[in-house]
Amino acid sequence: MKSTTHLLPGASSLLFAAILLLVGCATAYGPSSEKAATVPLYDRLGGVYAIATVVDDFIERLLVNDTLNANPAIKAARDRVPKSGLKYQVTAFMCQATGGPCTYTGRSMKQSHAHLNIGEKEWQAMASEFKKSLDKFNVPQREQDELFALVGSVKGDIVAAAKN
Ligand code: HEM
Repeated sequence: MKSTTHLLPGASSLLFAAILLLVGCATAYGPSSEKAATVPLYDRLGGVYAIATVVDDFIERLLVNDTLNANPAIKAARDRVPKSGLKYQVTAFMCQATGGPCTYTGRSMKQSHAHLNIGEKEWQAMASEFKKSLDKFNVPQREQDELFALVGSVKGDIVAAAKN
């Protein structure tokens, strides 16, 4: 006997609407690559509290880093500048640079680092501590890559040309 499946009247259009809805949802909540294109890095990192938490950990690591403290200019600035102020300024800088609603009011990267005689050795030491902080707070690889690109973009202003 020949069997035929009949949809209830209107059921096929309902099914079509459901498929459209599913496709729509899959696009809106799709892979992080699509989200990354539209959501600012600031929001993907979790906002200013999350950024401040990473910066806090990062600055604490820098303060006890032997390579950085072996540089007398860096050591002298560290002893002079209150770490809470430095954490505030770096947080505001990162907040603004990642597309957040903060306004950085500190000096330029050139002005604030020119006297520190920072070379490639110190830069690499800083980058390695930065990576440790990002890993500690489970910052995803894509966001880490974007943060390193951002930090790398100011390298020319921070690293003393004469030392390289
Ligand atoms: C090896 C790398 C670095 C070292 C050793 C270093 C060290 C320091 C020190 C000692 C100060 C205080 C200077 C002073 O007031 O006399 C400072 C200020 C600052 N740094 Fe860095 N820094 C490094 C890289 C960076 C990077 C990559 C950023 C941003 C992406 C950054 C952002 C800042 C900001 C926003 C301030 C505050 C400037 C102000 O108070 O006007 N630094 N840094």
